[in-house]
Amino acid sequence: MRIRRKPWAENEFNTNKNYIQNPYDLKGKWKTFFNNSNPIHIEIGCGKGQFITTMSKLNPDINYIAIERQSMVIVSALKNGREKNVGKNLAFFTADVENLRNFFEPSEIERIYINFCDPWPNKKKWAKRRLTHRNFLKIYSDIFGENGELFFKTDSRILFEFSLNEFESQENWKMKNICLDLHNSEFEGNIMTEYEEKFSSKGMPIFRLEANFNKNI
Ligand SMILES: C[S@@+](CC[C@H](N)C(=O)[O-])C[C@H]1O[C@@H](n2cnc3c(N)ncnc32)[C@H](O)[C@@H]1O
Repeated sequence: MRIRRKPWAENEFNTNKNYIQNPYDLKGKWKTFFNNSNPIHIEIGCGKGQFITTMSKLNPDINYIAIERQSMVIVSALKNGREKNVGKNLAFFTADVENLRNFFEPSEIERIYINFCDPWPNKKKWAKRRLTHRNFLKIYSDIFGENGELFFKTDSRILFEFSLNEFESQENWKMKNICLDLHNSEFEGNIMTEYEEKFSSKGMPIFRLEANFNKNI
């Protein structure tokens, strides 16, 4: 998909107080950055930011970091956050998840959200690009250190089945609250993402799971 340049993007990047220009400098210093020792949750592939901006307003005692690799997408999340008047408990930066270890020391992060990541449906060719591939799970477990949790939602049955098998194949990960139709389940407090709204309005079921990492299992 071609993403159009936005003439206002440069100004948004330069002036938005929630945008981190150089996240490498904050490795090991996120608690100092947020100026408190509240838990830190990150969202990978935040898109236009509806989920994380809403979460940050609902939960002021949690610090959130939104990560997105497309600068012309994250800039919309920045604008969205500014217009919603988000607080200091939300930070954004542009990066590829492959580089996550460069931004966080082990144990700095307690939870990761992955919402509607690209399914890469042609498994044989692209499976390694899926953000729940075991190579990515290793990156996540490295930044968790001792333990942490990952919350995952998707509209793609193929990706969900693949993800169940990836988590199951790793001995330090344990899944719970697996749900095959989130919007028709008893789950309370779901915050919708932009993609979730789009897919569920077409009647597609939303799949969700939680996976706990524990180094000492
Ligand atoms: C399908 S969109 C979903 C956006 C949003 N989470 C939602 O549910 O509305 C997936 C997003 O993940 C981002 N993304 C994909 N691979 C990524 C990676 N390796 N690192 C960071 N972001 C990535 C894409 O640029 C895209 O904005």
